Amino acid sequence: MSELDYDTILKGIKPSKQEHEEVMKLSGDLVNVINDTASELGVEVEAALVGSVSKGTWLSGNADIDILMKFPLDTSTKLLKKYGLEIGHETIKKMEGAAEERYASHPYVTGYINDYYIDFVPCYDIKSYKELKSAVDRTLLHTKYIQANLTPKQEDEVVLLKKFMESVGTYGSEFKVGGFSGYLCELMILEYGSFKETIQNAALNWKYGHTIDLMNYQTGGNFKDPLVAVDPVDPNRNVAAALTLQKMSEFVVAAVNFHQEPNESYFKQKTHEMDEEILKELFNNRKTKTVLITFKPPNIPADAVYPQIKKTEHSIVRMVESEGFEVFGSASWTDEINEAVMLIEFEVWELPVLKKHLGPKIWIREHQKRFLDKYPDNAWIEEDRWVVGVPREYTQVLTLLSDLMSGKKSGYLQFGKHLKNRIMADHQILDVKNILDSQSNTSGFIKFLYEYLHPGDKIFR
Ligand code: UTP
Ligand code: MN
Repeated sequence: MSELDYDTILKGIKPSKQEHEEVMKLSGDLVNVINDTASELGVEVEAALVGSVSKGTWLSGNADIDILMKFPLDTSTKLLKKYGLEIGHETIKKMEGAAEERYASHPYVTGYINDYYIDFVPCYDIKSYKELKSAVDRTLLHTKYIQANLTPKQEDEVVLLKKFMESVGTYGSEFKVGGFSGYLCELMILEYGSFKETIQNAALNWKYGHTIDLMNYQTGGNFKDPLVAVDPVDPNRNVAAALTLQKMSEFVVAAVNFHQEPNESYFKQKTHEMDEEILKELFNNRKTKTVLITFKPPNIPADAVYPQIKKTEHSIVRMVESEGFEVFGSASWTDEINEAVMLIEFEVWELPVLKKHLGPKIWIREHQKRFLDKYPDNAWIEEDRWVVGVPREYTQVLTLLSDLMSGKKSGYLQFGKHLKNRIMADHQILDVKNILDSQSNTSGFIKFLYEYLHPGDKIFR
């Protein structure tokens, strides 16, 4: 690897002195307001700053401030939820922000205050994983572990790694991405020492099932995931559990590419000229048929929507393939509010009226008789097997899709739980070219189509 000027790169992606002060000031204020609010309500709670802000590992412009409200272990779940929401809302009100309720392992409130997003998450004040009552309780232990073990120099290494991950499209453990969480990036830097060493190891040494076990718990064998990172604060937890094989592979290939030819562009978002006309031309040139099924997404948390759309998409693909059509590729996208889209690109979307139906072997006389009773005309023998031509139920994939999505054939489809009724009641099935003609598409949707057509774009620079 030749040498890049990492100091200059860091200047562009680390928070400025001003941003740093602003975020730390706001975080401190929030902790105080929460603690004051709690004592006004007579609730025994202590606020703690956690997440990347508390660890000095956040990317400039990207600060989401994570604050835990620590409740004593003997608090009932009911009261924890109740006071968690109450104190969160009250704090946001005092700070003149906007509130929105979310859901993780229990409900919590998110605030938008002075241009920053803040999570107010109630948890139990645990000292060890053995006291764990819900998944968020671990966050406290994570924060302490990273604060105690990550050196200031390594904070910068984490920032480089996170930015690299973000640029190549593998950052974020939420279902939308299925990539690497911030905490996983921190553990990788602790394991390898620096960004460069991390890249080098991923590029040269990682294999399916690679295991990182900083505390040498030797529990890695309990996990069947493509990457295993045993949580230093909980031997029974794989920090990389949410990482998909897809995103692990993309990261490894990006690491190989970067390792061979380090380049500053790996720390920047790629931008491209893109509009409907260009996309239409690209789809046209493929001579495939690309169909979009659009509907309004259900009003449930983002982390629940994405897996349901994916599941539905995969089920449709399996279904149309079992009817003889051939799928070149598929993808889905949603803005999480108004629009959800499943895209299916067909190699074969039209089939002849006839399809070959295989019968029994001629040796099985009883089955042969039944077969010939059912198909008295036109059956023929191929080697030692009976074959007959029968009419296909669907010769056009659009008709099949329309029947599937309106319920005429839906018994076969596995919809995501919250999607079925919604899609049945209202959806559209359109050719991508018609949508692109309409010129009224959102930039998020255009980006989705661009990324579908250029799947390797982010990992090669
Ligand atoms: P965040 O997703 O906000 O991560 O979760 P982060 O470390 O603050 O990184 P960025 O910069 O915002 O992206 C907050 C905390 O929740 C726990 C971690 O302890 C993390 O620090 N967490 C979150 C996990 O352990 N795993 C996850 O997949 C997500
Ligand atoms: Mn965070």
